[in-house]
Amino acid sequence: MPAVVIVGAQWGDEGKGKATDLLGSRVDHVVKFNGGNNAGHTVVIGDQKYALHLLPSGILTPGCTPVIGNGVVVDLAVLFEELDALTARGLDVSALKISANAHVIADYNRILDKVTERFLGSRRIGTTGRGIGPTYADKMNRVGIRIQDLFDEKILAQKVEGALELKNQILTKIYNRRAVTVEATVEELLSYADRLAPMVADTGLLLNQALDRGETVLLEAGQATLLDVDHGTYPFVTSSSATSGGACTGSGIPPTRIDRVISIVKAYTTRVGEGPFPTELHDDFGENLRKVGMEYGTTTGRPRRCGWYDSVIARYAARVNGVTDFVLTKLDVLTGLEKVPVCVAYDVDGVRHDEMPVNQTDIHHAVPIYEELPGWWEDISGARSLDDLPPNAQKYVAAVEELSGARISAIGVGPERDETVVVHDLL
Ligand code: GDP
Ligand code: IMO
Ligand code: MG
Repeated sequence: MPAVVIVGAQWGDEGKGKATDLLGSRVDHVVKFNGGNNAGHTVVIGDQKYALHLLPSGILTPGCTPVIGNGVVVDLAVLFEELDALTARGLDVSALKISANAHVIADYNRILDKVTERFLGSRRIGTTGRGIGPTYADKMNRVGIRIQDLFDEKILAQKVEGALELKNQILTKIYNRRAVTVEATVEELLSYADRLAPMVADTGLLLNQALDRGETVLLEAGQATLLDVDHGTYPFVTSSSATSGGACTGSGIPPTRIDRVISIVKAYTTRVGEGPFPTELHDDFGENLRKVGMEYGTTTGRPRRCGWYDSVIARYAARVNGVTDFVLTKLDVLTGLEKVPVCVAYDVDGVRHDEMPVNQTDIHHAVPIYEELPGWWEDISGARSLDDLPPNAQKYVAAVEELSGARISAIGVGPERDETVVVHDLL
């Protein structure tokens, strides 16, 4: 029985939530292993639409144990808001487990995220402002607050005091903001402790024991390959490991136990926030993708930047993650185009690059080299097998598969759970 990883191939919002939900009924545990409430996953089940930020998408599947792994940063106010909202809609959320080693997003880190972005001006990252970067920075600086610290008031106060010593200097002297008091932060964090206590667990142990028993574990990434702090378009990235390696460090499941890596890739490309994006469109085609694909951020509501499919990125994602299967999503959004361009390589100052350039400046200068494929006009939302797709849509899928370095095992033809063409079984 396998451990399966789901990762995004591009800059996020590929449809990871829908893919996780699709597999949910066949898995015993769904684990979020990185990121926090910067993520936004929309899952549509019948006439119900759910927007999840911090909770793993497996929370929507009865009988599945949702797990927040040690690699996640947790905003406790958001956690309980999301749990209460789902409970109010009739879902049973009592199975949720949270790692004792996950870090907590403190109020001062939310403040610092926002003021730093303002301070950076034109050099800003375009973060979600949720305190993600400063909280991971604290973790690496070894001044972070972990879930387990909430159960020892003395230790918690000591740690908050230690963290605030430097932060209050920065807030007051550099950013001209009010200092944060140790008491206020500690009081807020402690207010969640009683409700949190029954959910806290040694999730690494729990998950490895589940694998020993032959149960299935699905590890769901937030963000995506090009937002990964090591492998993404640094510095325009998030601050966590969003690739398949992060699934191990962020959950406590070792690499030798991972059987399959499924990467979700959109049939075109989108990005939210700043940073390079070679196939970005600034014309009516881009506007059309945004309108038809409803490309507005689930978390911040910002319009997503849109562009054509980029196979340099897909090949890179296949390599970095060890992708065994791609799920190609939102193919329906490309319906109605006469020609569909696909980026096959980059031209960087006259030199052809078939692989992602290693130099940041080169990525900024990359000009896509396109191949144009013939489009289709038929409504494909009812397709459930490859043969149901019009010949030109089949050709598009085959071309993208050939260019992207791993087989395409499923194709999204609409937002609903069942609007999917299954080519190869994913589990
Ligand atoms: P995530 O962050 O990767 O989970 O993706 P988001 O939920 O932020 O964005 C994906 C959006 O596309 C959501 O609104 C989904 O409901 C929608 N979606 C997913 N798959 C498909 C598909 O195959 N076709 C269409 N039209 N929409 C899809
Ligand atoms: P899902 O899981 C798309 C982007 C932000 C910003 C950068 C850093 O829904 O795919 P952060 O707040 O993380 O420090 O911001 O990363 N970003 C996302 N973009 N989808 C996401 O998550 C994202 N999470 C962060 O827009 O550019
Ligand atoms: Mg999203």
